[in-house]
Amino acid sequence: MNRLDGKVALISGASRGIGAKTAELMVAAGAKVIVADVLDDLGRETAKKLGDAAAYIHLDVTKEADWRAAVELAESKFGGLDVLCNNAGVFTGLGIDEATLDDWNKLVAVNMTGVFLGTKLCADALAARGADSPHGSAIVNTSSIAGLVGSQLDPLYSMTKGGVALFTKSTALFFARKGQRVRCNSIHPGVIDTDMGAQTFVSRAQKQGLNDPSKAKEFSAKMHPIGRLGVAEDIAKGILFLASDDSGFMTGSGLVVDGGITAQ
Ligand SMILES: NC(=O)c1ccc[n+]([C@@H]2O[C@H](COP(=O)([O-])OP(=O)(O)OC[C@H]3O[C@@H](n4cnc5c(N)ncnc54)[C@H](O)[C@@H]3O)[C@@H](O)[C@H]2O)c1
Repeated sequence: MNRLDGKVALISGASRGIGAKTAELMVAAGAKVIVADVLDDLGRETAKKLGDAAAYIHLDVTKEADWRAAVELAESKFGGLDVLCNNAGVFTGLGIDEATLDDWNKLVAVNMTGVFLGTKLCADALAARGADSPHGSAIVNTSSIAGLVGSQLDPLYSMTKGGVALFTKSTALFFARKGQRVRCNSIHPGVIDTDMGAQTFVSRAQKQGLNDPSKAKEFSAKMHPIGRLGVAEDIAKGILFLASDDSGFMTGSGLVVDGGITAQ
């Protein structure tokens, strides 16, 4: 199950957190991986730990030239591109009344423009490899539960992640209509204990008057019916499944990995 032998993956936002864990699981599953991020020192370390099967590249997802260079690296170093994970993301924790236009523009540049550019600039490489693959190439977009239901902490983040959820479906239709064998699915994590998770605890502590982020962390864990926060591996396993041929009959779909939080 969930093997990626012979496949090449490009993961944005892979220096740490969910993206780094996804890179690790993908290499263990037989893939070659391009670790891409703006945190260069950390990204190089992440790739180095994975040995010859991984390489790091500086990729600011808002920059077209960076995407072109990342695709070229996947092709020159590993022979092509089978999997794109649009995983880079940022969070503001600001209310509608607090956020400025500048905050919104920065958020939308990473969370939405980044997904559009990644999809556009990887499309040809993915379609080329997908033509000869039993279940095609795969794009996995990291949305959020905040892309399915409203967010008390960050309504602007929620708007971007809702956009990613629907863009995933439109992308699936786009490739299908062109007769190109590229599947596209999204993943919707609950609260995950990463750097971004920590930002949500600070925001929750402020908004709910909990005063202390560690209290907000406990509160967040209890919000999940399963009784704990998610960890990066919970989500990386889902991304791996969506990238692999085991999800070969899935496209335009969303995988919710949220400890039951949106079941309520
Ligand atoms: N942690 C959570 O609770 C949670 C919940 C739902 C969804 N998500 C989503 O999961 C994804 C990964 O987040 P994480 O939890 O691992 O947090 P994280 O902050 O550890 O990872 C995000 C990564 O994105 C990178 N990044 C930011 N701006 C970038 C840019 N312009 N270009 C390239 N890379 C950039 C960061 O450097 C970082 O390595 C994000 O899309 C996030 O929105 C996280």
